[in-house]
Amino acid sequence: MSDAIQGKTGWPASSRVSSSQGEPCRGLREIVLRHLHSEYRRPIAKHTARSFAAFYQELRAIGGKSLVLDAGCGVGESTAVLSRKYPESIIVGVDRSQMRISRAKLAAEDLDNVRVVRANLVDFWRLAGKAELKFERQYVLYPNPSPKKRHVKRRWHAHPVFPDILKTGGILELRTNWEIYAKEFVSALEIAGREAKLEQFTPDTPMTPFERKYHASGHLLYRIESDLASCSRSKRASAQAQQ
Ligand SMILES: C[S@@+](CC[C@H](N)C(=O)[O-])C[C@H]1O[C@@H](n2cnc3c(N)ncnc32)[C@H](O)[C@@H]1O
Repeated sequence: MSDAIQGKTGWPASSRVSSSQGEPCRGLREIVLRHLHSEYRRPIAKHTARSFAAFYQELRAIGGKSLVLDAGCGVGESTAVLSRKYPESIIVGVDRSQMRISRAKLAAEDLDNVRVVRANLVDFWRLAGKAELKFERQYVLYPNPSPKKRHVKRRWHAHPVFPDILKTGGILELRTNWEIYAKEFVSALEIAGREAKLEQFTPDTPMTPFERKYHASGHLLYRIESDLASCSRSKRASAQAQQ
């Protein structure tokens, strides 16, 4: 480990994602199509139902603001960045980790347009979909890669919640340091009839602690952008007909 890196980030240098999977998952199309065409029936966890209800009630009381989701916000650094970038929007940072969310709440104390919600994103997205909430933008910054081959269905694009991510709409930006995750995510979007742009990038100012750590450790970083609302019914139908 380089002292320079530790000095820069306060963390040890981070190792690259290691996986026995050397290429995008071959069965991805089948998995994504199955999720697109079936209903996800797992019961919603009570604690997320409660946090979502409180958030939704507050949102209705505020009324009329556009919404930006920071999915897996961790300690809330990106949530604060987004609060400054979109001062007219409500930024909702969601994470399931009590420890990280407490720090995010602390960081958001002086930010009027930030709400921090402790919840499981799987259920949060499903409840947002049921409530017909539309996000103007969704940021998914450095999701857990779940690199083991057998854990592919834990990745957001291969998870049964993927249709709700699409449904809740907006411009989606996902960042990752694992190229295979990025390529799979783009494929899943395309299977669902959405266009997506994938690029490798170098952050001027890292937006999250993980981005800072990966950048300082010399990892390549990937960014995907997709307008989830851009999919017309006919485009989706023709995308699926070609499969
Ligand atoms: C690798 S960290 C990235 C955190 C932050 N976005 C960053 O870049 O520094 C992934 C985050 O997603 C959260 N997370 C993973 N799965 C989740 C889920 N199902 N629901 C809510 N949060 C989740 C974790 O608690 C963790 O904070």
